[in-house]
Amino acid sequence: MSRKKTPERGNGGALMLAENAETFAQALRRWFLRERRDLPWRRERSVYRTLVSEFMLQQTQVSAVVPYFENWMRRWKNFDELARADEADVLRAWEGLGYYSRAKNLHAAARRIAAENRVPATAQEWRALRGVGAYTAAAVASIAQGVPVAVVDGNVVRILARLSGDARVFRDGASAAAAFSPLAEALLDRAFPGDHNEAMMELGALVCSRRSPRCLCCPVAEFCAARFRGVEEDLPKFRTRKIRKVEVVRILCRVGGEIVLTRNTAGTRRLKNLCEFPRAEDFDVPADELLHGATLVFEGRRGIADEAITERFFLVPAQRAEALEKSFRAEHAEIFRAGTDALAALTFSGPHRKWLGKLLEVSA
Ligand code: ADE
Repeated sequence: MSRKKTPERGNGGALMLAENAETFAQALRRWFLRERRDLPWRRERSVYRTLVSEFMLQQTQVSAVVPYFENWMRRWKNFDELARADEADVLRAWEGLGYYSRAKNLHAAARRIAAENRVPATAQEWRALRGVGAYTAAAVASIAQGVPVAVVDGNVVRILARLSGDARVFRDGASAAAAFSPLAEALLDRAFPGDHNEAMMELGALVCSRRSPRCLCCPVAEFCAARFRGVEEDLPKFRTRKIRKVEVVRILCRVGGEIVLTRNTAGTRRLKNLCEFPRAEDFDVPADELLHGATLVFEGRRGIADEAITERFFLVPAQRAEALEKSFRAEHAEIFRAGTDALAALTFSGPHRKWLGKLLEVSA
């Protein structure tokens, strides 16, 4: 007769995590294999597909990434094809995903891998590539290459803080990730590190959500100290950060079928080649003079990091276009006119692309 060992409980009744790591990993993986979403980068695995998807998924939701990923794979099927692509085409294919340095870094990674004819083989080697942080390195190495290394991002921090009932107040995501990294490694299923990491991501996305976690569906609820104490929604705890309000004045100037725009040149790595509507502060003319006779025609809001930005667009008469162009003084941008039929081929920031139709309408 076999005698089953009674699992150890602590933490107010929850199964002890570290002592039951194997049982935890098994329950998590079984759930993942049953419930995982059918996502395009999971249908067929390769290092290339995994790297592209992980770059796209940095700071971007899965649902937003799916169409970009599919389009990208139709266009550039492997590192060699991407390495040969023009940067302008790469940026255009990224347009709307935001954080454009990701596209440049991914392109540079493909060029390096193609030139060396070798892919990095460990998380540490992946990290040597620009734009590949600890999370992306661990994700690619584990998912595409079976390297036993745990990913730790906001989702994983949330899960681990709740499982362990850790009520410390963290300064930010990075310090919380550092604090939970040892526990993430201790729980990792070393036989299936890719499944395990994706299962953690999936649990964070589908079950252990920030608000109203679906604990009744959770495959590892038995291990969760926060749930046993009824404090799951309170964890993890972060110092509250202040959102800064920023106001930007933009110039909308249309000359017949052309529109006055700026394009970032060298110096701003993240935003190089991005087109925008000119900012009032980039002209060598006092604001009241610049906006004399101009009309406020559109107001848009965008958020970047901890800034809540309001952008006000002022329509400036066409006769002032030349004077405007002469007084443009931005250090890392040039001013130019683009025919409205050429706008589709330019790269705009996400919000400016989104507002473009409305801006053309109000300036027509
Ligand atoms: N977020 C980051 N990487 C992911 C992945 N591989 N699957 C789902 N969501 C993710």
